[in-house]
Amino acid sequence: MDWGLANRLNLIIRPETGRTVMLAVDHGYFQGPTTGLENPRATITPLLPYADTLMLTRGILRTSVDPSSGTPVVLRVSGGTSVLKELSNEGLATCMEEALRLNAVAVAHSIFVGGEGERESLLNLAKLVDEGQRYGMPVLAVTAVGREMARDARYLGLASRIAAELGANIVKTYYCDDFEKVVAGCPVPIVIAGGKKLAEYEAIKMAYNSIKHGAVGVDMGRNIFQCDAPVAMIRAVRAVVHEKKTAGQALALFEKLKNEGAK
Ligand code: R5P
Repeated sequence: MDWGLANRLNLIIRPETGRTVMLAVDHGYFQGPTTGLENPRATITPLLPYADTLMLTRGILRTSVDPSSGTPVVLRVSGGTSVLKELSNEGLATCMEEALRLNAVAVAHSIFVGGEGERESLLNLAKLVDEGQRYGMPVLAVTAVGREMARDARYLGLASRIAAELGANIVKTYYCDDFEKVVAGCPVPIVIAGGKKLAEYEAIKMAYNSIKHGAVGVDMGRNIFQCDAPVAMIRAVRAVVHEKKTAGQALALFEKLKNEGAK
């Protein structure tokens, strides 16, 4: 593998554990000021020391993250839609040159398998992979789910495999029953999105189960930044991802940190 590409991948999936805790704060690119991200800098800054990478758009990176932050950046490059219209009609919203200028360690692109924009999202992913190969930039494919798609192993397995076939270096998908089948059918590392805010124990258990069934980590957003103690939450998630803690042990850590005042 190209040295630059391998180096960037190692800045995402930590070599010490073979795992990663990615913090996703890119929701505004189609949702606007998402709950918990109204003031991105205030939300992001305390979480940075605990995130292996930060996934976000160039606009929020430039305005809300200090360049002195040592946290590697995964740049969201697909976009062009809003919650008011058909979400699957995304296009490429940020070019590879910009990703390089911003010192990104990967670019993130959504695919909409089964959606109206399926073909374009898949071909744009393939184009991005071609460019990524040219410049040593890993591509993370996000298996976005349309309103009418089931989040089951059959659908997520299909979408994840297609992403890998098109050359994605990492796939981000959802946890589901029979998740090990999704992992078994996908020859590149998988991370899971957290989805809508759950009770803390449920979110921690989801992270735990994902790892147990073969994910290399999480790329979580709302279950961390919408929690009333986000720092305690990301540290609890780190405990299951990097430190082999059980969900119960991680919940105990969350409660302890929260009681100590960790926000
Ligand atoms: C969705 O397309 C975005 O990439 C989000 O960053 C992603 O869904 C992860 O965030 P959450 O854990 O809130 O689902």
